[in-house]
Amino acid sequence: MIEQLHRLEETALDELEGLSSMEALEGWRVAYLGRKGALTDILRSVGQLPAEQRPAVGQEANRVKLALEQAYDEKAEALKREEMLRQLVEEQIDVTLPGRPIKPGYLHVSTQTLREVYAIFAEMGFQVLETPEVETDINNFQLLNIPPYHPARDMWSTFHTTREGILLRTHTSPGQIRAMRLYCPEPIRVILPGKCYRYEQVTARHESIFYQVEGLAIGRHVTMGDLKGVLTHFARQMFGADRRVRFRCSYFPFTEPSAEMDMDCIICGGKGCRVCQYTGWVEILGSGMVHPQVLRNGGYDPSVYTGFAFGMGPERIAMLKYRIDHIRYFYANDLRFLQQFA
Ligand code: FA5
Repeated sequence: MIEQLHRLEETALDELEGLSSMEALEGWRVAYLGRKGALTDILRSVGQLPAEQRPAVGQEANRVKLALEQAYDEKAEALKREEMLRQLVEEQIDVTLPGRPIKPGYLHVSTQTLREVYAIFAEMGFQVLETPEVETDINNFQLLNIPPYHPARDMWSTFHTTREGILLRTHTSPGQIRAMRLYCPEPIRVILPGKCYRYEQVTARHESIFYQVEGLAIGRHVTMGDLKGVLTHFARQMFGADRRVRFRCSYFPFTEPSAEMDMDCIICGGKGCRVCQYTGWVEILGSGMVHPQVLRNGGYDPSVYTGFAFGMGPERIAMLKYRIDHIRYFYANDLRFLQQFA
């Protein structure tokens, strides 16, 4: 029987060596070590041997069992390792493949223009102050010398709210009052950017929602000369060093004197075209010296302090700069338009 055990051991180990899959290994285990396996059969028959042979055969049978079990474990381990290596090779990632391009976002043309405006005024010492879009009638009109029922209100078609005396600001000028009350009695040099709302028909140059950038400078010696210098510098930084500007008398209830600044038409170079309505000039902004009563409303003594203010539309500036012929493109969310400024 010992002879039979040795043959079985030899055959089993030979077979084991040739196995190449986990399924085949399981078949081998069942055939030799399973409940009905060849070795189990021999172990069972040990009981029928004469008593004097049993210890030696039993001992040898156990040794063979242990040897086969150990060989099984080693083979299982080796097959698992091979399988893992095969997977690593097959599923290898090709790190040289070019990745999918990531499309980064970009700034809206209005935001880009606003930032350009900020940068130009920052160099001249102006800081940015944001003020609310929902305003009181008092700040938007009354403290700017526009009392209720004053005909000047027609200049700003207004969206009113259901709350009496609360409206969507029609311009950034109420920010002047807020800035003055915030900084008084210090000198001021701020720009006040933000959205404005007007109950207006949309045309090529008019939207009902649009941006404005207000400017305000207050001090003991601020003059109309400062206003002209600052705004001329702005136009040349924004549109090119050889731009010509002119100041035309105008009227705003909150500035005295008031002026509108025109620039020579960037499209036709001043010769006259549809954009400049054949005048050679395009209006860029409204401005003036802060009215003494408005200074007083902001807390400043007009016998000591003077100031200038201006208000411009960045969409109109972008329209000139990039030759955009209709303001509706800014908020139509048409990617074909927006992506041109990526
Ligand atoms: C004003 O709103 C004054 N608050 C400006 C001002 C400030 C004058 C400080 C004096 C001192 P006006 O209504 O002209 O003025 O508007 C100023 C600028 O806002 C215009 O030149 C234009 O660029 C822009 N703007 C006005 N209405 C619209 C609109 N409906 N759509 C797009 N831009 C507009």
